[in-house]
Amino acid sequence: MARYAHITGWGVAIPEKVVTNHDLARKVDTSDEWIRTRTGIRERRIAAEGEYPSVLGTRAALEALHMARLHPREVQLVIVASSSPDYPFFPATACLVQDALGAPQAAAFDIMAACTGFIYALGIAASFIRGGQYDNAVVIGTENLSRIVDWEDRNTCVLFGDAAGAFVLQASEEPGGVLATVMHSDGSGAEMLYLPAGGARLPASEETVAKRLHYVRMNGREVFRFATRVMAKATQEVVEKAGLTLEDVTLIIPHQANRRIIEAAARGLKLPLERFVINLDRYGNTSTASIPLATYEAAQQKRLRPGDLVVFVGFGAGLTWGAALVKWTGPVRPSLPRKRPLAWRLYRRLARLRAWGRRLRRWLGV
Ligand code: UT7
Repeated sequence: MARYAHITGWGVAIPEKVVTNHDLARKVDTSDEWIRTRTGIRERRIAAEGEYPSVLGTRAALEALHMARLHPREVQLVIVASSSPDYPFFPATACLVQDALGAPQAAAFDIMAACTGFIYALGIAASFIRGGQYDNAVVIGTENLSRIVDWEDRNTCVLFGDAAGAFVLQASEEPGGVLATVMHSDGSGAEMLYLPAGGARLPASEETVAKRLHYVRMNGREVFRFATRVMAKATQEVVEKAGLTLEDVTLIIPHQANRRIIEAAARGLKLPLERFVINLDRYGNTSTASIPLATYEAAQQKRLRPGDLVVFVGFGAGLTWGAALVKWTGPVRPSLPRKRPLAWRLYRRLARLRAWGRRLRRWLGV
């Protein structure tokens, strides 16, 4: 019997603090007018102290699990995509999320494909589920980009924002869910968008700090040209791979980097802009979180309904790009109380206590 990977829950975590273009114009040589006309962004959210990617990711995952009616204890796989993880190399942010959720059965790992990360993670999770390895997975895109942008560099600091988004995927024999994915890369463009220091190539030193090499560096114009080339192509490719046409697709949810990039994709596909979800005006570019965040809003606004075909398409550093074609399932049971049940909250408290217990046992060597 064929297995399908359905998206049965989705959630977000949005920091409270809003930073407008006007706020930025007081810090660097820019203006609201420049940012709006060149990017479409009006404001972005900035994570508070302690709202690490793992913290935002856990919050988004809990909302998604609650919607999917899947208890954290049943979760089998956690994949986190992040361009600004809690720690630079290890442990994986996914392990921190696994612990915070209280998901003792789950395998957990991160993937690094920059802003395309969520598409890659979705493709990997869907393959595991379709292949029978797992019955469910939580896929998370989560960012603290505000911690890795140079707030003195007007070329980059106006673009990014913090947030997290998550999907729950569950196996079913009912046709639907993630129908096709395409993933691409071109490492010859690695230095078009990168964070130069802090890795094995250029470890942290007084010099790297003095030269501000621990912040994002970007050739905006080149990334823009690359993005306008690949967005329409990847969309077309994933639709064809599923044996469908663009006419069959209700909605396209693109990576939210720049309104002009999305407009170029719409022109390339000869589709009206109304078929695209755009919310970057309020959040800026939230990298791996941008697609699940836009999806969340589209579902809330009923622009996305059960049975609809939707394309997720993204691009990012690497260079990487990719797309996923999904038959939208919708929540397993629609009328759900907003508040998570008390039993869930008690369970998480208990899971935290158990984690302390494991730490204590390791410390005592028993
Ligand atoms: O997830 C992937 C992440 N990255 C992206 O998606 C970035 C893709 N690229 C872009 O979105 C656009 O290239 C930008 C928004 C970054 C820049 O827009 P542009 O229309 O390509 O501008 P530009 O790079 O051609 O720069 C035009 C001018 C430059 O001045 P000069 O050299 O012409 O005198 C920049 O220095 O605009 C200047 N500029 C700014 N001016 C005011 C750059 N940033 C700013 C700013 N405010 N914030």
